[in-house]
Amino acid sequence: MNIKIAPSILSADFSKLGQEVKDISRYKIDFLHIDIMDGHFVPNITIGPAVVKAIRPYSELPFEAHLMVSEPLKYIDSFIQAGANIVTLHIETIKEKDFITAAKRLRQQGIKIAISLNPETEPGAIKNVSKFSDMVLVMTVQPGFGGQKFMAEVLPKISQIRSFYPGDIAVDGGIDGDNSKLAVKAGANILACGTYIFKAKDKQSAIEELRNA
Ligand code: DX5
Ligand code: ZN
Repeated sequence: MNIKIAPSILSADFSKLGQEVKDISRYKIDFLHIDIMDGHFVPNITIGPAVVKAIRPYSELPFEAHLMVSEPLKYIDSFIQAGANIVTLHIETIKEKDFITAAKRLRQQGIKIAISLNPETEPGAIKNVSKFSDMVLVMTVQPGFGGQKFMAEVLPKISQIRSFYPGDIAVDGGIDGDNSKLAVKAGANILACGTYIFKAKDKQSAIEELRNA
């Protein structure tokens, strides 16, 4: 499987976010990962639909809205209207049947849907809904902040998910040039990555290094 790269703009300079989105989109990357936090499901607040809408004209790449919010169903449509092409929901925040209903509806609209799980959530929790997901996003840190340390103990879970899920598996949190190799070996094929890309002196080589993981 080809490795795909999704820079997380949480590590970009928010004072010039449009320009940052434009700049990063010039590299060989696949889509942009946008971290939405509500101060409830996670202990941090980041950005809402208004900001997603404001940065939309700065890139032609797909936008993934990673919804780390307690009541995602309330907000899906406003993020789609703002320009999200992929909506990622946490299994800790939604009932299986509601996810499946949302997945069917979004597919009809041409929007992709992904399921994410926290480091301590068992792979079995997403098994039923994964059949309706375009991607599984495995958290390799506790969601809430960029710049945290990759949790290697999550690696076996990636392999377990790979054993029942043939589609795209992304990892998110603390990804760098070294642990990306471990994540890919375990079965991941998408790397969502913030700090390692945005704080790199040479973004081009950081992205290439990840792609060669
Ligand atoms: C964590 C976010 C991640 C984070 C990744 O809650 O979901 O997407 O921004 O950033 P780094 O790569 O710095 O861990
Ligand atoms: Zn994220």
